[in-house]
Amino acid sequence: MSKSPIRVAVTGAAGQIGYALLPRIASGDMFGPDQPVHLNLIELPIDKAMAALSGVAMELDDCAFPLLAGMTCTSDLAEGFGDVDWALLVGSKPRGPGMERGDLIKENGPIFVGQGKAINDNASKDCRVAVVGNPCNTNCLIAMHNAPDIPNQNFSAMTRLDENRAMAQLAGKAGVHTTDISNMTIWGNHSATQYPDFENVKIKGKAGHDAISDRAWLEGEFITTVQKRGAAIIAARGLSSAASAASALVDHVHDLMHATKKGETHSVAVVSDGSYGISEGLIASVPVTSPGGGGWAVHQGLAISDFARAKIDASVKELEGERDVIRDLLG
Ligand code: NAD
Ligand code: LMR
Repeated sequence: MSKSPIRVAVTGAAGQIGYALLPRIASGDMFGPDQPVHLNLIELPIDKAMAALSGVAMELDDCAFPLLAGMTCTSDLAEGFGDVDWALLVGSKPRGPGMERGDLIKENGPIFVGQGKAINDNASKDCRVAVVGNPCNTNCLIAMHNAPDIPNQNFSAMTRLDENRAMAQLAGKAGVHTTDISNMTIWGNHSATQYPDFENVKIKGKAGHDAISDRAWLEGEFITTVQKRGAAIIAARGLSSAASAASALVDHVHDLMHATKKGETHSVAVVSDGSYGISEGLIASVPVTSPGGGGWAVHQGLAISDFARAKIDASVKELEGERDVIRDLLG
């Protein structure tokens, strides 16, 4: 007997990421090859956005996806988040050339107040929320604070794109495939202060700094390439990453819904319980494992060198600063 559909809300569904993301969800990449989905597609209540959304919906119809049980296109948040099991919060303004993601906070932050409240009042009480819209850690914090009836543990922000980027850089340097790499932790903020941890990553079973002897590259070019990859893509395309962002969101949700392979971890920005010296209550990226079903636990016991400590502390400090800027939006 076929499973009942999971209801998934996607905001900004007519945007760049939405366009790359929706076929991946509807084809089963996110929730599995036997899991039907109903998509609640949410856009701004403006004619141009809703017209574009209707075109996206026509295309999804035309794909005749066996797992697509239905679609609701709306600009009404109560309808859009009604009874959803997952809310994927993508819709918001992307940065342009020369901006940092944090520069978007004043404009994008307020979006997550209304969406948090609408999720609280309309979604399934066990709804999981993944925030992509930038600055995603702090936007997630805003949504979480405005949805007091949904457990804090159900909120996450996406640093999987950074994890995947870091793996690609390490694979290139070590001359291996990304499948030879695991446990790639991104610490802190999805920003230019994030720290991709080359000491705890595993490359063919060895620690990253043992597999790659060029320590100067690891401490320098590797870190800055990952930290600034989003800006490099904006400079090259004139638009921010979309296909890779959508793919990372598929990985993010898939790996929270399916149990993590033994011994492995993934990077997810979740509410801090103080582990690894990260201030409690911030949404910070840490290594997690999942038992499946959307849950997670922080993987404990990683060794943190003095070098790593300074990098993590700098990113946490930036998150504290972002929180100070939007404190009035925390309800
Ligand atoms: P886009 O401009 O192509 O699309 C955004 C869409 O969101 C538009 O269709 C717009 O109408 C819609 N929108 C805006 N405000 C909305 C609201 N309040 N409710 C519903 N819809 C709304 O942008 P994009 O390239 O798809 O990027 C979206 C966001 O994702 C940006 O903030 C970008 O910086 C961020 N992003 C994050 C990551 C990450 O790794 N966390 C990666 C890439 C992009
Ligand atoms: C990314 O990392 O590609 C996104 O966060 C978009 C950006 O502004 O860099």
